[in-house]
Amino acid sequence: MKFGSAVMAALVAASVVFADLNPIVVKGNAFFDSVTGERFYIKGVDYQPPDANGETTDPLMDIDVCSRDIPYIKALGMNTIRVYHVDNAADHSECMQLLQDNGIYLLLDVATADVSIARDYPIYSYNYVLLQHNFATVDAFASYSNVLGFVAANEVVNAVNTTDTATVLKAVIRDMKQYISMQSPRTIPVGYCAADVSENRYQLAHYLNCGDEAERAEFFGLNDYSWCGQSSYTVSGYKEKVANFNNYSIPIFFSEYGCNIVEPREFTEVQAIYSSQMIPVFSGGLVYEYVQEANNYGLVEVTAGQKNVTLLPDYYNLQHQFNITTLPSGNGGYHAKNKPSECPPYVKDLWEANNTLPAMPEEASQYLTDGAGQPLGTDGPSNQWVPDSVLSSVGGTTTRSSTAASASATKRVASTGTASSSIGISATGSTASSAATSTGAAVANIVRQGAGLHSFVAPAVVVAISFALGLVAF
Ligand SMILES: *[C@@H]1O[C@H](CO)[C@@H](O)[C@H](O)[C@H]1NC(C)=O
Ligand SMILES: *[C@@H]1O[C@H](CO)[C@@H](O)[C@H](O)[C@H]1NC(C)=O
Ligand SMILES: *[C@@H]1O[C@H](CO)[C@@H](O)[C@H](O)[C@H]1NC(C)=O
Ligand SMILES: *[C@@H]1O[C@H](CO)[C@@H](O)[C@H](O)[C@H]1NC(C)=O
Ligand SMILES: *[C@@H]1O[C@H](CO)[C@@H](O)[C@H](O)[C@H]1NC(C)=O
Repeated sequence: MKFGSAVMAALVAASVVFADLNPIVVKGNAFFDSVTGERFYIKGVDYQPPDANGETTDPLMDIDVCSRDIPYIKALGMNTIRVYHVDNAADHSECMQLLQDNGIYLLLDVATADVSIARDYPIYSYNYVLLQHNFATVDAFASYSNVLGFVAANEVVNAVNTTDTATVLKAVIRDMKQYISMQSPRTIPVGYCAADVSENRYQLAHYLNCGDEAERAEFFGLNDYSWCGQSSYTVSGYKEKVANFNNYSIPIFFSEYGCNIVEPREFTEVQAIYSSQMIPVFSGGLVYEYVQEANNYGLVEVTAGQKNVTLLPDYYNLQHQFNITTLPSGNGGYHAKNKPSECPPYVKDLWEANNTLPAMPEEASQYLTDGAGQPLGTDGPSNQWVPDSVLSSVGGTTTRSSTAASASATKRVASTGTASSSIGISATGSTASSAATSTGAAVANIVRQGAGLHSFVAPAVVVAISFALGLVAF
């Protein structure tokens, strides 16, 4: 295996100071410790604590934040966190080390508020700004042995009318796999975390696991809220999912779980998730979410200037469930030899993804050989734009831009007062009246200098403009 010697050398060198975790590899439909050969079950929590103003921030760049929380996550019995948003230009070494020291792996989403696959006009968001960002995030984390996998996108397919987004999603997965094979010191799996859309749940899962090996996802996460209160293996629908995913050939797990319709949450599903009924097919899951936010899914509350952590009843209930749940030994009856899926057929208004993927944008192919270059962090350009001709053909000047883009621009306006959307406005002379109401368009304007699909302003130029305007804080 290509990563063998490099990883071992790194481990040997590193073990002088500390013992890094063994990389996890995919075999059949399960995860395994690459050194001990033991099966790896995800026992995880989704981790995205907001900053003191309630804004999305990178929790792994701030040792005060991660060192506040990691002991509590470890005390829950967790071995994995999922982080949804990082700044790929920041230094993560201290928090990554603390995770290593506490036996915790990282499942990392590469999308940020401004750089992600756009649900409404996916093909235009598939551009070199997106790929440079995703590849640079791979670069920023690939050297940590406790990175479990990269999540190419979260819930971009969220209904029966957004399934064409899956075509771009799969192209992005393909490109990230190729980048990792050429630029990363070891193989790190790339996958997707799906909304649990009952109408086309299986089409999506099979689509991402069909066709050429180079195009297939390497894991499939399901954000699943079907077990509420004192439910059961059958009532929750887990049983049906296990039956339907029985022939699936890559690892599947719950990338979010923890329905909160009944509170406090008892988390009785933990015993089912790690039972001998489920583990031949599922590889565990991650509870949504560590810190309490307005949507009321938290295990802990953080107060007093971000310093004080209060454990909520859900925390103790979850800890109790892990305390009384023992994982079966051995390989859990995983399926070593399932075949990749058949590509699901086109069904209008239900499944409209294309089995022929778009080629990688020409400007991005240089990254495969030369590397992604400097990470642009959260101050880089957005990849989200739509040609004016397309906008005018659907009527109106504001984009039906993805919620991600709008939300982020709004957030940036709120948090900094000198948001990237205003940079876009000043730099392009756009007459957008208010960043808050036309955020999608404003963000799009950053990259929509000139006309035409491929005539983006170069990322460096945007950074330079920001710099000139004094808007980039160093
Ligand atoms: C999909 O349908 C929903 C609800 O009908 C609608 O709000 C949304 O704009 C549609 N999305 C697209 C991309 O057509
Ligand atoms: C911190 O949390 C504890 C409970 O965990 C509480 O008793 C204490 O008053 C809190 N302190 C502050 C300063 O909020
Ligand atoms: C779970 O086990 C840990 C370690 O044995 C113990 O400290 C904790 O009190 C237990 N918690 C619950 C809720 O059972
Ligand atoms: C697995 O089963 C599903 C239906 O449950 C089917 O759509 C899929 O093609 C099957 N895959 C293989 C490889 O047999
Ligand atoms: C699928 O993509 C290919 C290549 O981009 C294109 O030629 C074809 O028309 C697409 N098919 C559908 C149904 O959109």
